Amino acid sequence: MTLLEAPVEQRNSKTKLSVEIASVIYTPLSWSSDLKLGLQQFDDDHKTLVQMLNNIFLGFCSNLEDHILKGACSDLLDFTNDHFLREELAMERHPFPELDEHKSEHKGLIDTLSSRMKTLVATRDANTWQSSQDELGSWLSDHIMVHDKKAADFILEQQSFSLA
Ligand SMILES: [Fe+2]
Ligand SMILES: [Fe+2]
Repeated sequence: MTLLEAPVEQRNSKTKLSVEIASVIYTPLSWSSDLKLGLQQFDDDHKTLVQMLNNIFLGFCSNLEDHILKGACSDLLDFTNDHFLREELAMERHPFPELDEHKSEHKGLIDTLSSRMKTLVATRDANTWQSSQDELGSWLSDHIMVHDKKAADFILEQQSFSLA
């Protein structure tokens, strides 16, 4: 079970950190072993992404000032860009045959993330925030479990050949 697959009650009892605001329940995303790819740099970055998304949504729930939220959103975008570049570099080094598709997937994700962050900071509307949390949580887990997993499996296989 991954980030957002668990029913809300189960997620709540697991994390015990849910926050209710304007009748919207915010449940932090959680890291699970399903998201672990076995490449430490990828895994460490993904954990940081989960943490940064949580900080932004919790910041909203705790009514953080606009400039602090904007800063957190901009840090998330910068980190996501850097993470994507690190992944693409690792894929180029090995070389992963589906690099171009992965790069365009990354580009689409950055565009979506950037537009959602702008809307979130501008509206500060609880329902918009909740649907964005669901969307971005699914975005993250889907990308990791499908696209990053394919690349990580390929890289790990290449590494095992070069060690043999
Ligand atoms: Fe990734
Ligand atoms: Fe990726």
